[in-house]
Amino acid sequence: MNWILPLALGYALGSVPFGLLITRLAGAGDLRSIGSGNIGATNVLRTGRKGLAATTLLLDLLKGLAAVLIAAHFWPVAAGLGALGAFIGHCFPVWLKFRGGKGVATTAGVAFGLAWPVGLAYAVTWIGLLATVRISSVAGMSAAVVAPLVALALGRQEAALVLAVIAAVVLFQHRENIARLRAGTEPKVGGGKKA
Ligand code: G3P
Repeated sequence: MNWILPLALGYALGSVPFGLLITRLAGAGDLRSIGSGNIGATNVLRTGRKGLAATTLLLDLLKGLAAVLIAAHFWPVAAGLGALGAFIGHCFPVWLKFRGGKGVATTAGVAFGLAWPVGLAYAVTWIGLLATVRISSVAGMSAAVVAPLVALALGRQEAALVLAVIAAVVLFQHRENIARLRAGTEPKVGGGKKA
């Protein structure tokens, strides 16, 4: 099997920086100079535009899901490569000098595409922590760590391996958030007291 094609297709889809594009098109400024500087939905929310944030979340998720489903359609054993490509494309897009997002929404789509029960566990962890702890980075990192464990428990070894690699990179991408969490300065979603 040609492994380059599913990886490249995934990368091409994943590298579209929806948050940055949507915010710019809506005249809400350059996300990279707002809040955390991240190009994801949480930072779009900091512009005060809830609709733009929800759209970013949905599109970042859908590009991960689409990459897996398209890769699996054309190369039945390559869903994992499509997943990895989309995730890498989102986090390290060539268009933004490889400085992209943190991969939380794209990983949700990828998890649903690889094995929907894993996607469900990811979504429940993510939304549950977001609603209770209200710290986006904590919710996202926790969901990313839970996903490979659930995949493993369900006997989905290949998905578990792909999601474990992704979880490691998600944690790395959140290194500034981790430093803020340790310092007690990580902001909560919707404002309010710092973490
Ligand atoms: O999905 C990104 C989130 O986990 C953190 O975003 O902007 O608070 O660094 P941000």
